[in-house]
Amino acid sequence: MPKIELLQGDCLELMKDLPDGSIDLTVTSPPYDNLRTYEGSLDWNENIWKQVLEQLYRVTKEGGVVVWVVNDATVNGSKTGTSFKQALYAKEIGFNLHDTMIYMKPNFSAVGALQTRYAPVFEYMFVWCKNKLNTFNPIKDRKCKTAGEKKSGTLRNPDGAMVKKRGVEGWVQPEYGQRFNIWKITPESRGSDHPAPFPYQLAHDHIISWSNEGDTVLDPFLGSGTTGVACKNLNRNFIGIELNSKYFEIAKERIEKGTVVKERITEEITEGITEEKAQLGFDFS
Ligand SMILES: C[S@@+](CC[C@H](N)C(=O)[O-])C[C@H]1O[C@@H](n2cnc3c(N)ncnc32)[C@H](O)[C@@H]1O
Repeated sequence: MPKIELLQGDCLELMKDLPDGSIDLTVTSPPYDNLRTYEGSLDWNENIWKQVLEQLYRVTKEGGVVVWVVNDATVNGSKTGTSFKQALYAKEIGFNLHDTMIYMKPNFSAVGALQTRYAPVFEYMFVWCKNKLNTFNPIKDRKCKTAGEKKSGTLRNPDGAMVKKRGVEGWVQPEYGQRFNIWKITPESRGSDHPAPFPYQLAHDHIISWSNEGDTVLDPFLGSGTTGVACKNLNRNFIGIELNSKYFEIAKERIEKGTVVKERITEEITEGITEEKAQLGFDFS
């Protein structure tokens, strides 16, 4: 049985009690600027997120990973760019910016935004690594369009000539290939009382990718406990921290029961399409 430790309080204070280099992987989603108030409990600004990132660097093992899922608010018509500032600050304090991945949603809610910009359907998933990466277990579920075809193992030289790759004999294209770094995931249904849970599949797939069974995973912004549920199901030890007592109780119950909130299915999304969205030609298929 994995060891699950849930702490209620301010992650900035509670992370100080975690030993240096004790965490293999963090999968988390901090507040997005001040987009949500989390029942008035939110105190979030550059000074705070910088300290959180510094603590994350300290507690992460050599070769460990932090996955930081985030987006920007729009203030006076301009995106804040906080996500980018965080990504660059993490680099400044020592992390490698291992990848900038995209969590793509099949839906959006801010119809008003469409008067001036394209539909916002993604969030950033920054993947930071402390020096040389320890673990990568790539998920291979991308259906190959050319499955079964024989590939010759050639590549194009800078001068344009096609040459045979040294040591590569050619291969038959498999049915499934390694996933790309844009993940299209259906958002969580409103089965929990938390205003901003990320999808179970997002947490599950990152945990598989960047950690092994028995490793220790942290979520300092536990919310409704999605990362914790996935860790329990995937046999990873877990430490979760949440400030708000109501969300903490939701997370505790969810993790105890191992509840995966039912994923929203396409039909449910379609029901929610307003006439305005339909006129703009979004079919959500
Ligand atoms: C974007 S939500 C996380 C949602 C979570 N990934 C889930 O699936 O439910 C951010 C959470 O961070 C919590 N939070 C904000 N500031 C915090 C702090 N200083 N320490 C701990 N939790 C905090 C908020 O109450 C909120 O529940």
